[in-house]
Amino acid sequence: MSSRKREMLSPSPRTEETPFEETLRPQRLDEYIGQERVKANLRILIEAARHRREPLDHILLYGPPGLGKTTLAHIIANEMGVNIKITAGPAVERQGDLAAILTNLRRGDILFVDEVHRLPRAVEEILYPAMEDFALDLIIGKGPAARNIRLDLPRFTVIGATTRPALLSSPLRDRFGAIFRLDFYELAAMTEIVKRAARILNVPVEEDGAREIARRARGTPRIANRLLRRVRDYAQVRADGTITREVARQALELLDIDELGLDEVDRRVLRTIIQKFGGGPVGLETIAAAISEEADTIMDVYEPYLLQLGFLERTPRGRVATPLAYEHLGLVPPAGGSHQPPLL
Ligand code: ADE
Repeated sequence: MSSRKREMLSPSPRTEETPFEETLRPQRLDEYIGQERVKANLRILIEAARHRREPLDHILLYGPPGLGKTTLAHIIANEMGVNIKITAGPAVERQGDLAAILTNLRRGDILFVDEVHRLPRAVEEILYPAMEDFALDLIIGKGPAARNIRLDLPRFTVIGATTRPALLSSPLRDRFGAIFRLDFYELAAMTEIVKRAARILNVPVEEDGAREIARRARGTPRIANRLLRRVRDYAQVRADGTITREVARQALELLDIDELGLDEVDRRVLRTIIQKFGGGPVGLETIAAAISEEADTIMDVYEPYLLQLGFLERTPRGRVATPLAYEHLGLVPPAGGSHQPPLL
């Protein structure tokens, strides 16, 4: 449809990677590799809505960063043949900001709200009736002259994305008709994603080279694409341009990315728990202070993969490094498990 648009409602950080990521972003569900269950459910949702000629139900996508939440939102808009407007929780500061966005929507449009858990509470409160009744409740004026007015909105779809579903208020969570969790990708899917990106970028890559990058990309396509760029550079400068397994291995070793894809920060998290805090339990804030990182970054970016690998456990008393983590770092786990002070 020629009038279809993608519109960014608030400035988003442009990095070296942004145009690269956009070139690689699949446009249709058929091009999207992995997350089979989410895709199967989305296909049904989309086909049913199209068949009924109705806008889609509101959709919440959650999971660690870099797994494709934004990409899926764009794909859903493409598959539905509707406009998508893009914003993020922290960018919508006041009720008026959201009112301006909502009153510009057309029937069927998608409003993509990234980091939806960071919407201010007052903004959330006008989003509830907008999502449920397609109505905007506004207060006009002040004091005794103040009046409530209700404006009708076209039927539209919110796609919310979050790394922290637990931080969503339950009234907001309840207004999403479909909730999907994105998981880390399997090695086979990651390998296909690397091969697809290499094809689009015209980078010669051998099967084993693609698999080596995939293995060290923490089940995360955004990381795979970043590593592919770095390995491409290395292949160009230190080899004949083709990414073989050996070239990928050397390039990634030089970047300090180990066999499992852990980088220096991951290893510092684990080493800190083990060497400074006897293996844990130790609180997240304490770990963050010890390595000068933000607690939120550790929780959103580093922990999920360490948990998935079974290197870290979350307990009510803090984080604990597991024997697998000791082994990976070449350290000897304490006899009888990690240090657990008695409960008082
Ligand atoms: N690029 C990034 N994520 C992708 C995915 N899931 N499928 C295909 N290409 C991708």
